[in-house]
Amino acid sequence: MTLSEIAPDAHIDWLKIQGFDEKQALRVKWLSKDMNEHETYMQDFMEVFETLELWGPSSKEDTSKAYSLLTSHPTHILEIGCGKGNSTITLANLSKAKIIAIDNEQSALVQLQLKIKQHNLKGSVSAQCMSMTELNFGADKFDVIWAEASAYIMGVEKALANWQPLLKTHGFIVFSDLVWLTDNPSQDSIEHWKNDYPDIQTISTRKSQIEQAGFELKHTFTVSEQTWQSYYQPLEKRANELASERVNSQAILDIKNEVNLYKSRLGEFGYQFFIAQKK
Ligand SMILES: C[S@@+](CC[C@H](N)C(=O)[O-])C[C@H]1O[C@@H](n2cnc3c(N)ncnc32)[C@H](O)[C@@H]1O
Repeated sequence: MTLSEIAPDAHIDWLKIQGFDEKQALRVKWLSKDMNEHETYMQDFMEVFETLELWGPSSKEDTSKAYSLLTSHPTHILEIGCGKGNSTITLANLSKAKIIAIDNEQSALVQLQLKIKQHNLKGSVSAQCMSMTELNFGADKFDVIWAEASAYIMGVEKALANWQPLLKTHGFIVFSDLVWLTDNPSQDSIEHWKNDYPDIQTISTRKSQIEQAGFELKHTFTVSEQTWQSYYQPLEKRANELASERVNSQAILDIKNEVNLYKSRLGEFGYQFFIAQKK
């Protein structure tokens, strides 16, 4: 067992003592990589992702499906880890809400700003650079918190506990997370996620955690295979393009291995939407 598995918070504190800032420390945890190689690893990793539109398995169809399961019309939405803002724009088109979309990656927010301008959404959507661990909006502010493929960065249980107070009573949290879809995953899936996402859980464990954090789980569904493909096909193409220039890049190798696992073992694990209401 590694420190990150036994005590994830202590691991982050330790990384901060080693001189990593919070953003870097979360990334080391999130990518579960060797920090001695961290600089190069992150550079290569970002070089792969920077030109990609999707930074996680997300689509207009699945975002709209999750939104349609809300039982009231939100007026204030907080989106956490919005990336380049594809879901943000979908939410803005589906709702009449004021949306605050946050991420700690300024380059992604620049792309979202362009989309806000292009879709004429300046009055309803604001993009803000901040960390999901330091959301100082005050209590009872939002009808909906939306977090696609981002809660895992600080840990789902911690995210649920920290974000719950920001919601109004009966407000909703909608998040997506990688889960086991079978009780008997293959050894290569187990080995891969043990390194890359040690906190992967079954749907029923996540359900218990959601309820322990003061929510009632109202709906849950697995994102479609098409959604996965729209994420991993451009990712694979980009990793292959860069692989010839960066023959020894561990980051590119890891991305290619992960894509191969998606191709061969998808169905054993998947991204799951959880739509839960604050009690
Ligand atoms: C896997 S991506 C998902 C992005 C987007 N929601 C999507 O589905 O395409 C995770 C996002 O969380 C952001 N992120 C990472 N650490 C963060 C932090 N501490 N605070 C806020 N956002 C963070 C990343 O920059 C990235 O945009």
